[in-house]
Amino acid sequence: MKTQICIIGGGPSGLMLSQLLHLKGIESIVLERCSREYVLGRIRAGVLEQGFAKLMREAQCGERMDQEGEIHEGFYIAHDNKLDRVDLFKHSGGSSVIVYGQTELTRDLYEARDRMNGEVLHNVDDVVLHDLTREAPYVTCKYNDENIQIDCDYIIGADGFHGVSRKSIPADVLREYERVYPFGWLGILSETKPVSPELIYSSHERGFALCSLRSQVLSRYYIQVPLSDSVDDWSDEAFWNELKRRLPVEVAVKLETGSSIEKSIAPLRSYVVEPMSYGKLFLAGDAAHIVPPTGAKGLNSAASDIYYLYHALLDHYQNDDDSGLDNYSAKALARIWKAQRFSWWMTSILHRFPENSSYDQKLQQIEIEYLFSSDKALGSLAENYVGLPYGG
Ligand code: PHB
Repeated sequence: MKTQICIIGGGPSGLMLSQLLHLKGIESIVLERCSREYVLGRIRAGVLEQGFAKLMREAQCGERMDQEGEIHEGFYIAHDNKLDRVDLFKHSGGSSVIVYGQTELTRDLYEARDRMNGEVLHNVDDVVLHDLTREAPYVTCKYNDENIQIDCDYIIGADGFHGVSRKSIPADVLREYERVYPFGWLGILSETKPVSPELIYSSHERGFALCSLRSQVLSRYYIQVPLSDSVDDWSDEAFWNELKRRLPVEVAVKLETGSSIEKSIAPLRSYVVEPMSYGKLFLAGDAAHIVPPTGAKGLNSAASDIYYLYHALLDHYQNDDDSGLDNYSAKALARIWKAQRFSWWMTSILHRFPENSSYDQKLQQIEIEYLFSSDKALGSLAENYVGLPYGG
């Protein structure tokens, strides 16, 4: 087989890039290890920056997002048994975020690829990347019990943290930066009315909690748990009880509970690898960086990589200009590190760290009090939460 761009990974990043390129006449093949049902069964993020939404529209995939997604102009931070609102619209100078689940958005992207006869190969095994520093790279893999080879101009590694793409780069070329947090998030999805029309991030002495939603009939809640906990340790009832204890009374009394339709624990990690490119291979999204979910920056960080890659590839094919590809890593990383900082900061002010001294604890409380006493501090939070500009 032959194509211009071979994209490893059929998650939102890979699909979005493939779709955007197709609309400009650039052909790609997407290789995905799992089935489509499996990819769509993963419950992931739900908060989109406007930059991401714009890309979805440019990819001709924004219709349902604009109809069913909810525009959120603020969220709450609960602390000391009270609720303070962050007015994103006011403090960001008129911006907002869109609440629309990653599952739905991925479904929209698959449908668009189907409509345009895009090649997305599922259940692909034994993916190996070859000749990354040569003129003609290629990918071999097993598909439908057959060994196939895909010759291409460039390879995009959008295959997540555990994917083969990053591992195909010689270790001595890469520098890794990592922070692992001593807790995880236990999350549940339940077909109940969300307790609040806007998200509530709660800092509580028993640990962090988050009230989020996918729609007005589908709620998503999280609580911070020790890494030693497993899902089996938490009945639905135990989850609801613990969540209520971590919310201000005025919120807890309104919480509608029900049986969970999904329950899982995600560890929290900050991770960046540099550089994000090697020869003809370009990494995007979780393949190159991970954030803790507190700032809702995971999917949005992947989207900015796709934006830079898309424009770099357009410049290559349409204008014979390789500067975008040459500078991709530096440009993507400049924004990635800002999202890393913000996610680390949100995580550090809202969670209970077992190793914290009483001094650290007090500073955490003061940080939140300062935030709500200063329009400048709120401005900084808001501009990061709605998403920093992509630039150039
Ligand atoms: C979610 O709805 O899953 C969600 C929302 C906001 C976050 C993290 C997760 O910061």
